[in-house]
Amino acid sequence: MKKALFLLVLLPLWLSGQYNLIPLPQKITPGEGNFIWKPKLSYHCTEQFVQKPCQLWLWGLTKNDKNGKPSKADIVVTALPKTKNYHPEYYRLAVNPKQIQIKAYTDTGVSRAITTLMQLMPADYVINRPVGFPIPCVNIEDQPKFEYRGLHLDECRHFFGLDFILKYIDAMAMHKYNVFHWHLTEDQGWRIEIKKYPKLTEVGAWRDGSQIGRYAEQRFDSSSYGGYYTQEQIKFVVGYARLRYITVIPEIEMPGHSLAALAAYPQYSCTGGPFKVAKGWGVFDDVYCAGNDSTLSFLKDVLSEVLTLFPSKYIHIGGDECPKSRWKSCEKCQKRIKENGLKDEHELQSWFIQHMEKWLNQQGRQIIGWDEILEGGLAPNATVMSWRGAEGGKIAAGMGHKAIMTPGKPCYFDHYQSKDSTEPIAIGGYNPLENVYAYSPIPEGIDSNYAHFIIGAQGNVWTEYMENPRHVEYMVWPRAAALSEVLWSGPGGNYSNFLQRLPADMERLKVIRVKHATHFTKKP
Ligand code: ACM
Ligand code: ZN
Repeated sequence: MKKALFLLVLLPLWLSGQYNLIPLPQKITPGEGNFIWKPKLSYHCTEQFVQKPCQLWLWGLTKNDKNGKPSKADIVVTALPKTKNYHPEYYRLAVNPKQIQIKAYTDTGVSRAITTLMQLMPADYVINRPVGFPIPCVNIEDQPKFEYRGLHLDECRHFFGLDFILKYIDAMAMHKYNVFHWHLTEDQGWRIEIKKYPKLTEVGAWRDGSQIGRYAEQRFDSSSYGGYYTQEQIKFVVGYARLRYITVIPEIEMPGHSLAALAAYPQYSCTGGPFKVAKGWGVFDDVYCAGNDSTLSFLKDVLSEVLTLFPSKYIHIGGDECPKSRWKSCEKCQKRIKENGLKDEHELQSWFIQHMEKWLNQQGRQIIGWDEILEGGLAPNATVMSWRGAEGGKIAAGMGHKAIMTPGKPCYFDHYQSKDSTEPIAIGGYNPLENVYAYSPIPEGIDSNYAHFIIGAQGNVWTEYMENPRHVEYMVWPRAAALSEVLWSGPGGNYSNFLQRLPADMERLKVIRVKHATHFTKKP
């Protein structure tokens, strides 16, 4: 009987995993005793944070909408006086037997503290409000290593819909990611409503079939496939992410990967078309005509609507994998090259990107582009996303440009995560969990004076071989959990310690119905 009682007391503690926190905070000092969770808690929140979304989270946690007295409150949130170099995401979280104290400079910091607090609670606390649950006392001091902590999703090769996106954002927030890079336009589908150009979604969001099986087999089905987000839905997603202190950066691809748009408006190509939305994967020769002024006006019109939906400082304009064959034989493109004294089509691509950058800068935004934007001359204020290895990031940083690291290995979560023959088809490359965990975003050999231009890294999720939400989740988790720790806690973490904390983290995902791969549970 005594033993049963003992287990009853210890079991919840064990289930909470003591401090099964991912990403691991910078400093954890264990305390003594527990804070016992009550059905309804009181809280006090400093005026500075009262109107902010973190207030909503406090309400969600405590089921109380009263701002009580600080001395009596169960949870107290205080603003730290801002110092010269304060970090906006810094927080302190102290769990004492009588009170939970959160201190931060900004509401973002408060939200990160609440995320940590939630991880000290049982995984299913959202569903079964814990009553009498002991939260182990602890003092945590924390802030992220990297300012940009991104997760990407390609919704063009396959389309997953609003419910999935909200869940994707929830899982990101649990891991303190702060950027959702939403890849919305491609050869295989245009996924964002643009009111001035309705055919982008009437025509461009749908294809007559999809490639199936391995790439080399070149097999296709003939089912109509597609979908898109209305502007109202997009606003909802952006607001939902903002509540979780995640910025949504849209990617509107140009000048390549644009066949879906050209199927709808072929006049913006070099040849005039006609075109079809691509069924197969790969890179296509037909791209936006860089010599046609009306193409540039079209893209600015599209971006004008995009800017009203996405308040992000950065807008991603792609720039990768743009074949130059059409430009080579296009009169307008050749005229543009001549008139601007450009050397070749690579310089024309650079001219095109710089033209769009200048316009976006005038609208108060900055561009991000894939590392091909380095070719033919980098646009003056551009941030480079380094995907073909680390070299692009290194070069950009060396030029004093910001860079975000997304090298295929280990940042592409569309690669195989195991060598098991039963693994679903994926894009070539082996990128297991331990390699993601071992990643260090600062490229080797970079001049230390320029390392600070590497603002972070991102996991990329291209979905040619992921047909449904469950498959996406299977590819993303737990690799994205490992990357979150590299980015928040910093590289060089202890992998076996991470693996010990991981089951509790995956349990939290399960509660919000997010699937994950289980290779980490098997002995090598
Ligand atoms: C890319 O993977 N084409 C950026
Ligand atoms: Zn052209």
